[in-house]
Order: sequence, then C-alpha cells, then structure tokens
Amino acid sequence: MVIVEVKQEYAGLRKWDEWEVKKADSEKTPADWDRELFAGFASLHVQFPKNREATFGVSILTQWWNNGFGTEVTDWVVQHGFEQLNLHRISLSYWASNAAARTVYERCGFVHEGQKRKTFWLDGGWDDEVIMGILDEDYWKRKKQLGNEPK
Ligand SMILES: CC(C)(COP(=O)(O)OP(=O)(O)OC[C@H]1O[C@@H](n2cnc3c(N)ncnc32)[C@H](O)[C@@H]1OP(=O)(O)O)[C@@H](O)C(=O)NCCC(=O)NCCS
Repeated sequence: MVIVEVKQEYAGLRKWDEWEVKKADSEKTPADWDRELFAGFASLHVQFPKNREATFGVSILTQWWNNGFGTEVTDWVVQHGFEQLNLHRISLSYWASNAAARTVYERCGFVHEGQKRKTFWLDGGWDDEVIMGILDEDYWKRKKQLGNEPK
C-alpha cells in the first residue's frame, strides 16, 4: 500500500509569485503554519501482486478543491505506479455524479471501462459506480505523446 499525503503548503507555493513573498520559518504566523497541515491523501493498494494491478483512491479536503491538488497527486501516483512499482494496470471507481473526479481521472489518462448501476446510495437516491483503468501501455503511449519520454 502506498499512501501519499497532500499538504496545503503546495497551494501557498502555487500562488506565491502572484501575491506574496515566501516567508522564512522564523517569520511565519500560525496561519502560515496551518497551510502546511494535511490537505488530503491518495492511496494505491495492490491486492494480488502476481497481477501487478493496484486500486487507486484520492480525497482532498473540500476547502482545497479546485486548486489542482487532485490532478497533481493522481499524476504523481500513476507515474510512481508504472515507473517505480512496475504495475501492469491501475483501477479505480467513482460515483457517476462526481464530475470533478471524472475530470481529474480523464486528464490523468484513465479510460471508462464500465458502469455498475445503482451502487451508491447518495443524497436520497441511487448513483452508479463508474469503473476506470489505465494500463502500462496506455501510460507509456501517453507519456511519449506528451513529449516526456525518458532519455
Ligand atoms: C475529486 C477530487 C479528488 C478532485 O480534487 P481537486 O483537488 O479539486 O482536483 P483538481 O483541482 O485537480 O481538478 C478538479 C477539476 O474538476 C473540475 N470540477 C469541479 N467541480 C466540477 C463539476 N461539478 N463539474 C465538472 N467539473 C468540475 C474543476 O473545474 C477542475 O478542473 P479544471 O482544473 O479544468 O478547472 C476532490 O473533489 C475530492 O477529494 N472529492 C471527494 C473524494 C472523491 O470524490 N474522491 C474521488 C472519487 S472516489
């Protein structure tokens, strides 16, 4: 199991050159330190190593949504899974009405593989579970297309 922690500091750094000067540790206020606290996590779980398949999950605290964290950590874990762990495929699922999850996963190279009907009970109604996956061959093809082929 690989667990990746996302820290709020990254958002501070992301916005740094727009509106603030990065402070030395001795100058930081409690609010500055708060930004370095936990902002979410991602995980990669390998159930049967012989299949070289892992299941991916990600969750970012709501106050940090739409800052690019979900995309950044998903990209990083996918890269780690194929380039360091030598996985063959990464699988995931999300509830069909979760448009932000779909945006992030498609952007990171996952493709729709199927849909289980009425799996999640959400807000007083059923929602489908969407299954997505990315294969090692998809990953390397996409990486080549993006011009990041390893030297
Ligand atoms: C899904 C999740 C991880 C996304 O994290 P995030 O840090 O907000 O992701 P990003 O900022 O990288 O990207 C989110 C994208 O979704 C888009 N988005 C947000 N709400 C949307 C909506 N209702 N419809 C369509 N797109 C939406 C954003 O505009 C953004 O795209 P953009 O960068 O092109 O503007 C986060 O919402 C989350 O943790 N949700 C709860 C747990 C969860 O759903 N986990 C995954 C499925 S199990």
